[in-house]
Amino acid sequence: MAVDWSISFDEKIAPEGLPNAATIEAYSKFHKASIQNYREFWAGIASEIDWFRKWDKVLDDSNPPFYKWFAGGELNASYLCLDRHVKTSRKNKVAIIWEGEPMEDGKPKDVRKLTYNDLYREVNRVAYMLKNKYQIKSGDVIGIYLPMIPELPIFMLAAARLGATFCVVFSGFSADAISERMNDAEAKIVITADGAFRGGKTIDLKSIVDQALEKTKTIRNVVVVSRTHNSVKMVKGRDDNFEDLMKGIPANVQVEPERVKSESPLYVLYTSGTTGKPKGQVHDVGGYMTLLHATMKWVFDIHDHDVYWCMADIGWVTGHSYIVFGPLMEGATEVMYEGLPVFPEQNRWASIIERYGVSVFYTSPTAIRGWIKGGEQWVKMHDTTTVRLMHSVGEPINPEAFRWLFRHVGREMIPFGSTWWMTETGGIMISHLPGLMMVPMKAGTNGFPIPGIDADVVDDSGNSQKANERGYLVIRNPWPGMPLTIFKDPNRFAEVYFSKFPKIFYAGDYAVRDSDGYFWVLGRADEVIKVAGHRLGTYELESALMQHKAVAESAVVGVPDDLKGEVPVAFVILRQGNVASEALKNELKETVRKSVGPIASLKDVIFVSKLPKTRSAKIMRRVVKAVAIGKPPGDTTTLDDEASVDEVKNAYAQLSSEVGNPAQ
Ligand code: WTA
Repeated sequence: MAVDWSISFDEKIAPEGLPNAATIEAYSKFHKASIQNYREFWAGIASEIDWFRKWDKVLDDSNPPFYKWFAGGELNASYLCLDRHVKTSRKNKVAIIWEGEPMEDGKPKDVRKLTYNDLYREVNRVAYMLKNKYQIKSGDVIGIYLPMIPELPIFMLAAARLGATFCVVFSGFSADAISERMNDAEAKIVITADGAFRGGKTIDLKSIVDQALEKTKTIRNVVVVSRTHNSVKMVKGRDDNFEDLMKGIPANVQVEPERVKSESPLYVLYTSGTTGKPKGQVHDVGGYMTLLHATMKWVFDIHDHDVYWCMADIGWVTGHSYIVFGPLMEGATEVMYEGLPVFPEQNRWASIIERYGVSVFYTSPTAIRGWIKGGEQWVKMHDTTTVRLMHSVGEPINPEAFRWLFRHVGREMIPFGSTWWMTETGGIMISHLPGLMMVPMKAGTNGFPIPGIDADVVDDSGNSQKANERGYLVIRNPWPGMPLTIFKDPNRFAEVYFSKFPKIFYAGDYAVRDSDGYFWVLGRADEVIKVAGHRLGTYELESALMQHKAVAESAVVGVPDDLKGEVPVAFVILRQGNVASEALKNELKETVRKSVGPIASLKDVIFVSKLPKTRSAKIMRRVVKAVAIGKPPGDTTTLDDEASVDEVKNAYAQLSSEVGNPAQ
């Protein structure tokens, strides 16, 4: 099945009968006012959340691009998610319905329902343990390498309660990736589990951590949560079993939430960039929580009667913002699922919707494409009509995937959007806004910048691009939720995001704004690829390849894939004395998987004798990519490189003939 990636900028669907139907003109007017006075606008939103101390200044912009939102204000993210609710009738409302992956007799074997009071108690107990056993305090960094079990949000909230910073590493990353991140973040302690269930298999997380710690200097202790009950090696004096640590800590123990400064770091989350190692994005408390509060309302229209399900993994930013802090701050009831949404059968996700009556659903194009492939009979087995609103995230949604879910779950009538944002932005930036107003939907669009966000599509000189012309996506104003910096690397922060267009945030995406003003994000303009929605830097994969002694040089590019959106393909020059072979190909694939993690599976390795380079010795990635796809690179040189049209053509012809593509 070939995915239809062609985009129609005009096709509008479901224009009538949507909640708060608004005209684009009315929204544009409102939006314009919000960005003209964005400080006041965001101050109004921030005043809707609870502060221990109000801010002195809405925005401290004395040292751009390092902005401090709500400077001088004090609050606590764990207080906002828990204490506030347990003082109200939400106390015994279910906060998290957790479903583990394993099934027994056709039913999920492990289900836990935690009320706000349960969660409050657990977070207090864990905070107490971290404080008393490990002396964790404000300023410390806690590493977390946990699967999708309730202890993951519990540890994040406990760290936040103490004013400590946490750093979650996605449980699909390898030992090398963990040690790289833990070393950079200078984490003192790491929280992990004996294992994780995924796709019917058990992944031995603890032994991955053991390997990582051989190369991690800063970690003094490891806490091991029991999940799979496989046997693990415990290092005396270093490792502790979580259940043992918690024994004897009373259910009603209380740890005062630290009064945290608005601009202090809540977490560091590593994400891939164009060059170099993954960068630790540091997010604040006050601005971040303000953005989440706004977007939970505008984008998800969250209400007390809703059952909300975001299918992401908490190891990525989507889970941080829209499984942990956003929905819990709003007092929502949410579903949290442990494993593969198509295990043991294709209908698992639809059965979850039916079982818990999910009403607000947040998913991804990769997931939808998998369901299309599996066949619509699986979704038809279940009543999914409780869903009243949906969004997708992570990569551009192809119109075919949009239409399929819109038909099979959306009954061709409910709001369904594709929310654009990134780890750096902290929360959703461009979206449909069913909680605020609804304009006609179009299959594949991202909608409009949310209120207070001055997003634009610009040309090479930073001028607004004409309608329907491709350009770079930028955000012109500072916004609450933006990163404080890249951890320990402020120069890089300024350079990566604020130097291409001075004073303007450069997202690294190509986008188009159509003649109605809708934004369409087309994909990355740099060397970042999205594999099944996971963000990977081709540089990291190239560095991994270099670890193999047979590799002299390599270039990794992303090529379109029906299921995963994009997959990496490597072009490799071998060192002298090595011979290309199928066995070596597999070895190289394995090297990358081991170094980065199972999400980094090379689709193919192509051996070449030369890579096309520009005069300044940069690899012509556009050419390599064109060869990988088997299509000439075209003759636009404007947006990309320093090579002339002829040079690009020649390089393409040369590399094509070497790999056996018919050059054109
Ligand atoms: C891409 C994920 C098109 C984009 C929240 C961005 C999208 C990168 C969309 C960030 C969308 C995310 N439509 N593209 N709805 N959502 N992207 O940091 O290329 O993992 O720059 O954050 O994903 O990925 P990240």
